[in-house]
Amino acid sequence: MGSQESEIVILGIETSCDETSAAVLVNGTDLRSHIISSQIVTHQRYGGVVPEIASREHSLHIQPVVQQALDSAKVSFSDLSAIAVTYGPGLVGSLLVGVSGAKAMAYAAGIPLIGINHLEGHIYANFLHNQDLEFPFLALLVSGGHTHLILFEAHGKYRVLGHTRDDAAGEALDKVARTLGLEYPGGPQIQKVALDGDAHAFKFPRAMLEKDSLDFSFSGMKSAVLNTLNSARMRGETLNVPDLAASFQQAVVDVLVWKALRAIDQTGAKTLVLAGGVAANSLLRETLDKELSERSVRFVYPPPLFCTDNGAMIAITGYFHYLAGNFSPWTLNAVPGLGLV
Ligand code: KG4
Ligand code: ZN
Repeated sequence: MGSQESEIVILGIETSCDETSAAVLVNGTDLRSHIISSQIVTHQRYGGVVPEIASREHSLHIQPVVQQALDSAKVSFSDLSAIAVTYGPGLVGSLLVGVSGAKAMAYAAGIPLIGINHLEGHIYANFLHNQDLEFPFLALLVSGGHTHLILFEAHGKYRVLGHTRDDAAGEALDKVARTLGLEYPGGPQIQKVALDGDAHAFKFPRAMLEKDSLDFSFSGMKSAVLNTLNSARMRGETLNVPDLAASFQQAVVDVLVWKALRAIDQTGAKTLVLAGGVAANSLLRETLDKELSERSVRFVYPPPLFCTDNGAMIAITGYFHYLAGNFSPWTLNAVPGLGLV
């Protein structure tokens, strides 16, 4: 089945870390298909993502995943308006599979290529289920590699107000989980185990930094858990894992929420948008929900599947770039350290 002449049909491709994903989005609102092939099980036996293995897995899966996305959307390459692909930040080998694949497909189909910043993609995932989302808004981006507070004034017009000075929130959760003997990825495991724990059992520090700072620091908080565990081991004691998980999760959530509220106070923002893998955390969502409704600030967050890496968020970001005529050259390269400027 072909698409209508006037339709804008975007194929979004994401391969920056351990998920090969593709989605077909029509006119920025109609998600016709969304395929995610996760490598989590492959990497679990190593306790984290092994970059070399990730690239090879993407190589294996990119074509079938794209084909499945086209088939379930009942479109072919000739129906597409453009192909959007993550070009950074992420693992270089993984990014290159997506970028090279998308280039080859777009070139052969004679359609534009749109390189997408993965961080922008996470935030734009919110437009998929909230088409009435309006600028300006404040975004709290919390993923495995990033923790940012960003003020969005318009499409492509934003200001980073704060970011982590060391570990990202997800990275700290993953590292603590690993020390507690929990599986990769650690964030969802901490959330699960914490259900049986007491969040006040351990008093872990909350790094708030300077009085007005909107930066984050999770490294010291993570070390506090590791030190607690090591001292107990030296004394021959075993600590309660659910209590440790619940107390650390609470400490991370407290800092994220306090910093977001501080940013709202400083900017007067009326909407907070949550994004990134850690945005799937229910304690974080519930706490923000409560605090923001008390302040009459609108709270927007994606369904859990759209918080972690996915092709739909790349397709929707691609849609807005398509409307603005922001296309990439055929020389587009992977930029592993790409930031938000
Ligand atoms: O956005 P994402 O899928 O990948 C990056 O761009 O980094 O985020 C992955 C991170 C991992 O650190 C993972 O542990 C964390 O998101 N995460 C969670 C939850 N689900 C995923 N952290 C806390 N609670 C969750 N439910
Ligand atoms: Zn991500």
